[in-house]
Amino acid sequence: MTLVTDPAAPRIAIVGATGAVGSTLIELLEERALRHRELHLVASSRSAGRLIPVGGRPYEVQALEDFDFGLVDLAFFSAGTGVSAEWVPGAVAKGALVIDNTNAFRMDPGTPLVVPQVNFRTLDEPPESGIIANPNCSTIPLVRVLQPVERRWGVRQAVVSTYQAASGQGHHGVEELLEGSELALRDPDAELPAERFRPPLAFNVVPFIDVLQDSGFTLEEEKMVRESRKILDLAHLDVTTTCVRVPVVNCHSAAVWIEADAPVDRDELIALLSAQPEVTVHDAENRAAFPTPLEAGHPDHVHVGRVRVSPHNPRGFWLWLVSDNLRVGAALNAVQIAEYVLGRGFLAGGTR
Ligand SMILES: NC(=O)c1ccc[n+]([C@@H]2O[C@H](COP(=O)([O-])OP(=O)(O)OC[C@H]3O[C@@H](n4cnc5c(N)ncnc54)[C@H](OP(=O)(O)O)[C@@H]3O)[C@@H](O)[C@H]2O)c1
Repeated sequence: MTLVTDPAAPRIAIVGATGAVGSTLIELLEERALRHRELHLVASSRSAGRLIPVGGRPYEVQALEDFDFGLVDLAFFSAGTGVSAEWVPGAVAKGALVIDNTNAFRMDPGTPLVVPQVNFRTLDEPPESGIIANPNCSTIPLVRVLQPVERRWGVRQAVVSTYQAASGQGHHGVEELLEGSELALRDPDAELPAERFRPPLAFNVVPFIDVLQDSGFTLEEEKMVRESRKILDLAHLDVTTTCVRVPVVNCHSAAVWIEADAPVDRDELIALLSAQPEVTVHDAENRAAFPTPLEAGHPDHVHVGRVRVSPHNPRGFWLWLVSDNLRVGAALNAVQIAEYVLGRGFLAGGTR
């Protein structure tokens, strides 16, 4: 992260700075040397006063209720949907452009839902609402492979099963998985902690993420469907999902069946996906023939493996996807949005 005095550089706030996504945002802003004039770290009153080093300097965490959004040009929110619903409108009213990582505004018609590699054009104009929404962590890798397939062959249907890591439930989710695993190893009959994950996640596989909807699907499953349709601008895209939590610390995976409108050639499919920005295809010829959460490779890429065209249906094929949910699925996408809007001059001193 590069602190500068240039008045054109933005003043930035990170709300949820002590969380899993917030701390990854800080990491990425440092790694990518994002130029800024001021940085404000914001969290709940529980963390107020805590010092977090950024770029070699200590920053004091401020309580959200005491923070004045009039002090910043750009605010990243990753402190939960309820917090965003309550505080983002006030931040926008004070003049901040908000990049929101939660579910609060994703389907709002005046708020673009953006994956820069897929639909950056939705940012050609500043957002009507003053908010840019970051999609769900499993939607992002999915649309990054669906879009090129849709453009080349058309997508008749996509069937997705996710294998989602504990870090999708933040720092506390990871702590609960590790604590539960230790307890279970010591005593197989021990009662395991089940606050973030119910039933407990240690040594388990749980086909239920978020809350049940009237449709019988969970909210996580419905989010993937409606967000994919909005991002790809395909209102009737036939995509259906089962979202599953697995006892993995970080990196979400997904098994994706896609039925195209026309026969698919495997070599062409691999070449097409390999040509997408920040997508790595692991093919059988390579030593790392398939990605896993522990050994995927570049943390900023969507990793694709197990590419199989069905011998029974030449229009249908399987992909295995792995990506870092905290980076690709959340913080990196948000930072790439910020880099794009800063380049377009949407912030104070720009067109806003
Ligand atoms: N984890 C992922 O893979 C992922 C991916 C995409 C989107 N998201 C979304 O990002 C958001 C944060 O997720 P996370 O995984 O980073 O969670 P987390 O590790 O639990 O962090 C939550 C953050 O929000 C802050 N916070 C909680 N309640 C607050 C309040 N009332 N006022 C102000 N700050 C408050 C916490 O501050 P304290 O430390 O002070 O409690 C902490 O900084 C969620 O909406 C989540 O759905 C997460």
